[in-house]
Amino acid sequence: MSMTEPFLPIARPSMGEEELAAVRQVLESGWLTQGPWVRKLEAAFAARHGVKHAFAVTSCTTALHLALVAAGIGPGDEVIVPAFTWVATANVVVHCGATPVFADIRPDTFNIDPAAVARLVGPRTRAIIPVHLFGLAADMDALSAVLPADIVIIEDAACAAGGGYHGRPAGSLGHMGCFSLHPRKSITCGEGGLVTTNDDALAARLDMYRNHGATLSEEARHRGPRPWELPEFPVFGFNYRLTDLQAAVATVQMGKLDRFITERLALAQRFDEQLRRVPWLAPPLRPQGYDHALQAYVVMVDPARAPRSRNDVLAHLQERGVAGRPGTHSVVALAAYCERFGTSAAMFPVATHVEAQSMALPLHNHMGPGDVDRVVAALEEL
Ligand SMILES: Cc1ncc(COP(=O)(O)O)c(C=O)c1O
Repeated sequence: MSMTEPFLPIARPSMGEEELAAVRQVLESGWLTQGPWVRKLEAAFAARHGVKHAFAVTSCTTALHLALVAAGIGPGDEVIVPAFTWVATANVVVHCGATPVFADIRPDTFNIDPAAVARLVGPRTRAIIPVHLFGLAADMDALSAVLPADIVIIEDAACAAGGGYHGRPAGSLGHMGCFSLHPRKSITCGEGGLVTTNDDALAARLDMYRNHGATLSEEARHRGPRPWELPEFPVFGFNYRLTDLQAAVATVQMGKLDRFITERLALAQRFDEQLRRVPWLAPPLRPQGYDHALQAYVVMVDPARAPRSRNDVLAHLQERGVAGRPGTHSVVALAAYCERFGTSAAMFPVATHVEAQSMALPLHNHMGPGDVDRVVAALEEL
C-alpha cells in the first residue's frame, strides 16, 4: 500500500457547484430562515417518500422530539426503543418526561426485535420508535402484528432517506418518520432533519410546535396581507426551524439521493464480494423486499475466528489510512441510562454483542471500486 494514498474517511459529503449556486441564491434573496427553500425541500422530500407532509427541522434529534410532543407523549407514558441505536432515539423520550423501555435487537438486521417488543407492551405503552439502523428498515409488519392499534409508531429513519420496505418508502411506514441531514448520512446540509406524516392533525401540530407554537409561519406572516398582526400561540412550542440556507443545500442533495444510493449499492456489492476472502467478517444483510438506504456498511467481526479484537482491527485500519468505526452504541450500557433506568449490558445480550463486534467500513460517494479493494486488502493483511 502506498504511503502517499490519501486517508480514506468513513464518510464524506458530496457537494458540487449546484449546492453553491443554491446557497448564493438564498444569500442574495435576503430571506435566510425557514422560507421558500424549506417549502421546496419539504415538497421534494414528501414526494420521494410517498407522504402527504414533510416538515424540515434542525436535526433528526429535534424531529424525534417534535414527533413525540405532537403525539402528546409525556410523564407516565412508556415509549419502546431499541437497545442498540444512537443515544438520541432514547434521549428524546427522557426529554418528554416519559420512560424509555428498551427492547433487544435482532443479531442479523441490527434492528429492534418484534418478539422482544411483544413482551414489553403494557398498559402505559403509548409509542414505539423503531430505528431503521444504517438504512435497513425495521420489520414494520412484524411490529404491527404485536402492537395494540392505539400505539403511536414513530420511525427513526435518521439513516434511511430513500430506503424502503416491501415497496413502501421509509417515513411512510408509521404515524410519523424522522430523518437526519447530518454529514454521516447519504444527503446532508451540515445539520438538519425532517418529520414526515400522512396524518393532517399531526401535521398541523408539527408545523406549529417547530415554530414557537405559532399558528402562522414567519414567511406567511411577513409576506402575507396583514404582517403587522401577530399570530396565535396556542401551544408551548420550540424554535426547531431549518434555515433556507441549509434547505437550499438539502434540496439540491435530495435531487441526487437516488444516484447516491445506486452508487453506494455498487460499493456495497463489491464489499460483499471481496469480503468473501475475509472469513472472520460477516457482511451486512440486505433482505429480499427491503430497499436498503445504505447510510453505512456495517460488518460483524467473528471473535472466535478473528486474528485480532475488533478494536485492534480498527486500529490497524487507521494505521493503513482507512477509517473504521464501531457500528453504533448500546444505549442501555451508558452510565446515565444504567443509573436512571436500571439497565445494564447483561440484560441486552444481542445489543451488547453487536456493540462489541460491529464495524462500519468507509462508504461514501467519493469512493470507487479501488477504495473498496484497498479496505479489503488492509483487512486481509491480518
Ligand atoms: C439512528 C439515529 N437516530 C437519530 C440520530 C440523530 O440525528 P441528528 O444528528 O440529525 O440529530 C442519528 C444520528 O446519528 C441516528 O443514527
